[in-house]
Amino acid sequence: MNLHIAVLSGDGIGPEVTHQSIKILTAIAEKYQHNFTFEEALVGAIAIDKTGAPLPEQTLNLCLDADAILFGAIGDPKYDNNPSAKVRPEQGLLALRKSLGLYANIRPVKAYDSLLSKSPLKEEIIKNTDVMIYRELTGGIYFGKKTLSEDGNEASDLCSYSKEEIERVAHLAFKSAQSRRKKLTLIDKANVLETSRLWRRIVTEMAPQYPDVVLDFLFVDNAAMQMVLNPSQFDVVLTENMFGDIISDEASVIGGSIGLLASASIGNKYALFEPIHGSYPQATGKGIANPIASILSAAMLLDHFGLVEEAETVRDAVERAIDLEICTPDLNARGGYSTENVGTFIEEFIENVDTLHINSGNISVGQSTII
Ligand code: IPM
Ligand code: MN
Repeated sequence: MNLHIAVLSGDGIGPEVTHQSIKILTAIAEKYQHNFTFEEALVGAIAIDKTGAPLPEQTLNLCLDADAILFGAIGDPKYDNNPSAKVRPEQGLLALRKSLGLYANIRPVKAYDSLLSKSPLKEEIIKNTDVMIYRELTGGIYFGKKTLSEDGNEASDLCSYSKEEIERVAHLAFKSAQSRRKKLTLIDKANVLETSRLWRRIVTEMAPQYPDVVLDFLFVDNAAMQMVLNPSQFDVVLTENMFGDIISDEASVIGGSIGLLASASIGNKYALFEPIHGSYPQATGKGIANPIASILSAAMLLDHFGLVEEAETVRDAVERAIDLEICTPDLNARGGYSTENVGTFIEEFIENVDTLHINSGNISVGQSTII
């Protein structure tokens, strides 16, 4: 398969983790005889510094022409405490989501057995957790009309949703549930919000089209509690933009590190793949950023194009790295493995998986043999 991939590595640790994903995708292309080409473009704070805009036209045009987008991270502390900044790096990502119609953000959350002890939550609580979060991504309060009064003392953000916006992401979530454990939980605040009542009505009306899926509902405050009390009750979770943003960060503690969580943002025509972590400016350039979230996002890219075996190969290699504790300091403080080491182990595992007999007592990362 030929794939032209736009690479928007962005700010902070974005470039270093994205670099590892490119290594992995290149190894997959080689192994399975695909032709993947990569083209880089600016986004975020670095794009503001260089061009004045967080999403330069050239970047958007590249994305419109590409088959898929591999995204790193955006954000810079110099904007965080400056609410009056006229341009902000985040606007680049939001504009990209809207311009490409990426209405569904899919975030898998899994508790790996070998990492159960790394989560601040108790092992018996998180064991067997495997949740697929479907977050609506181009509507709601993020994109509603915003106002600020002239004296600067009053502001508002409008939250609105249409039937079509709800249906298109809900269809994806129902289908995902059908391929999994057949349970769909809609998270809303239908006891207070009109938009949530609309979500409930529309999703309930759709349910008969998916008779094998059990649909249930949770108010978002209760869902936030359930996510840390009993996360293995969830299979597929569906929710609107802002609730999904918050619930997915909360769910990330289940895996033991936010550096493990991948995501895919899908529309009818375009698709973007990005780790859910941010730009982590304190770690930039230190070689300590976990590349796994980015690498698993690349696996989601492969899945998206039907390259299921290829995606599975990447996930197997990642699981092997995790099992052998070939992980960056967020997961293995004493191992001394860098971002590059972890990427290289996964790359070499993919290259050699058919011939390899891995012996955990005898691993040499980055030296071509892991025998
Ligand atoms: C995310 C991020 C973004 C969001 C920010 C960077 C605008 O937190 O992808 O979850 O809020 O959607
Ligand atoms: Mn977020």
